[in-house]
Amino acid sequence: MSKVKPAPLPPDTVIGGYRVVRRLSAGGFGVVYLSLDMEGQQVAVKEYLPSSLATRAPGELLPKVQADKLSLYRLGLKSFFEEGRSLAQISHPSVVSVLNFFRENETVYMVMNYLEGATLQDFIITARDLKTQKVFRESTIRSLFDEVLRGLRIVHQHKMLHLDIKPANIFITDDNKAVLIDFGAAREVLSKEGNFIRPMYTPGFAAPEMYRRDASMGPWTDIYAIGACIYACMQGYPPNEAPQRLEKDRLSLALSRLRGVYSDNLIEVVEWCMALDPLSRPQSVFALQKELSREGERRYTKLTVGEKVRLQFDTLVSDTKKKTGREATDMGAKPK
Ligand SMILES: Nc1ncnc2c1ncn2[C@@H]1O[C@H](COP(=O)(O)OP(=O)(O)OP(=O)(O)O)[C@@H](O)[C@H]1O
Ligand SMILES: [Mg+2]
Repeated sequence: MSKVKPAPLPPDTVIGGYRVVRRLSAGGFGVVYLSLDMEGQQVAVKEYLPSSLATRAPGELLPKVQADKLSLYRLGLKSFFEEGRSLAQISHPSVVSVLNFFRENETVYMVMNYLEGATLQDFIITARDLKTQKVFRESTIRSLFDEVLRGLRIVHQHKMLHLDIKPANIFITDDNKAVLIDFGAAREVLSKEGNFIRPMYTPGFAAPEMYRRDASMGPWTDIYAIGACIYACMQGYPPNEAPQRLEKDRLSLALSRLRGVYSDNLIEVVEWCMALDPLSRPQSVFALQKELSREGERRYTKLTVGEKVRLQFDTLVSDTKKKTGREATDMGAKPK
């Protein structure tokens, strides 16, 4: 990986008829700009620019790609373009709208409607810092994920998988709508071909099958990530990584601490979505939606005294481990 990030396009650069206002973010695979279209409307433009494969000097337009990385760069470019094409066919309030995508400067640009608000990740961090008993209210979690799942269902109907669902890729607009962003088809191809699978997935949210080359991914892979996002909304931090869970699974223990705070049904939904065996998870978004909408059956089972004592002991042990370990810092990407 090159250490220096490729330079973003400077303000006022015009690409495909869109004028760059400023950079909104720079991730591993591209740069997102706030831009204006010909009518002066705000749009978000995402530029394909994987920092591990390309460099760009300040003030330049064209990325420079080393000869030995060119085929991988082109492969990623092709799937970024295809992602734009597939997303452009989807029109749903919970899926970011792709308005246009085009080639220029030896790369590809995806034009999206500009969303104003913050990511769910930002909200979780703010809520967690308030140190209240609940990070989010149960009704908030249910209505938030009801929206996300409506969008995800359409995505799956279009034979696409997201494969990087995490709080940083769920955008909450100022008018309180949840929108899925960052489909990352390029990331998916590059991770397979580029021999660098693990660092590309966000710990805690990636299903166990994403760590195996031969495993078959499907709607259940995104559903695992949805379960992990609900978990993060309840706990304020992500669950343990899948490989760690395969060694020693503490999910039920962590969730049992939330008994009485969240309903048994919501806790069961998270356990179901996050089953390590893909076949034990909801196999479709529809199946999950059905379960999540069973509002009437909410029961809150409090912990018994014996369970409380056991939990306090377990917490003490795991807190001691945390002081030397990393569990609490695994929130994934930092808020941008
Ligand atoms: N349509 C949009 N409107 C407003 N802001 C956006 C939009 N799309 C992306 N952003 C901003 O840019 C950030 C990064 O976007 P995105 O998640 O698509 O890319 P990324 O995480 O950098 O991508 P990758 O993981 O492929 O490197 C988002 O967190 C958000 O702040
Ligand atoms: Mg992202």
